Amino acid sequence: MSNLVKLEGIMIKFENILFNKKGKIATITLNRPKYLNALCDQLIKELNDLLDQLEKDDEIHVVVLKGSDKAFAAGADINEMKDLTLISHIKKDFIKPWERISIFKKPIIAAVSGYALGGGCEIAMMCDIIIASDDAKFGQPEINLGTIPAAGGTQRLVKAVGKSKAMELVLTGAIINAEEALRFGLVSKVVPLNSLEKETNNLADSIASKSLPILIFAKEAILRSFESTLSEGMVNERRLFHSTFELQDRKEGMLAFLEKRTPKFKNN
Ligand code: CAA
Repeated sequence: MSNLVKLEGIMIKFENILFNKKGKIATITLNRPKYLNALCDQLIKELNDLLDQLEKDDEIHVVVLKGSDKAFAAGADINEMKDLTLISHIKKDFIKPWERISIFKKPIIAAVSGYALGGGCEIAMMCDIIIASDDAKFGQPEINLGTIPAAGGTQRLVKAVGKSKAMELVLTGAIINAEEALRFGLVSKVVPLNSLEKETNNLADSIASKSLPILIFAKEAILRSFESTLSEGMVNERRLFHSTFELQDRKEGMLAFLEKRTPKFKNN
């Protein structure tokens, strides 16, 4: 893990994140331990700059986003927010830059241990799959700060857990544990803390072995279901499916099946 990253040919030292690249998997670790990885502007900027770079990096198929054992992230930085006003929000469009995570084209897995609260829960939900350690805690406690979620907590949470549970969580600020998050459909898997890294890497490896353009299509098709009606989503899915037939990897995948061997994807 390093805080030194080459961006556009220039070596940058990140203050709030660590980064590691191994084969086709990039791991980003939120690293503001003193503030339980509270998501300050600079952290979001560093994360976005790195995602821009990883999107262009053809070697990388999958990104893992994690925090520390104690906190994935405890939300937006309350120190930075406390003096904001409506007019400063209008000028700055606070939170808007966070959307970068949700439009990242390649698969991104959130590996959550400890607190994923407020904006922490929201950026986990912007990722494609959430794996939680058995000590993970999720919640949208903004109501206790006299405000409401701002990075999808009233939107993606409804889609993940349904209206009634989302209402309960947002209106009470209650924090749920990993088993509840699994039961409500917020996370895909709960594993012991000491095997979170291994389980996440196994999942990332499995995804990374697939064809990159096909992964991008599959992710796009699923995300479209959030934004459209069923019939629009179905048309989009079909168009993307048709498009895969222009790719060598689609030919190779089908041929390999018929020849009873493992496909050798070349990502084209
Ligand atoms: N912003 C800024 N600092 C934070 C923070 C946050 N969101 N969360 C924790 N910290 C800081 C604490 O202030 C504390 O700093 P000091 O040591 O300088 O006092 C340090 O991190 C450690 O925190 P605690 O001492 O509180 O640790 P704890 O183990 O007792 O409690 C916790 C952990 C329950 C997560 C608690 O820190 C907490 O409730 N944090 C705030 C959670 C929250 O309300 N998140 C929502 C933020 S608003 C938001 O995210 C809006 C949005 O939708 C985008």
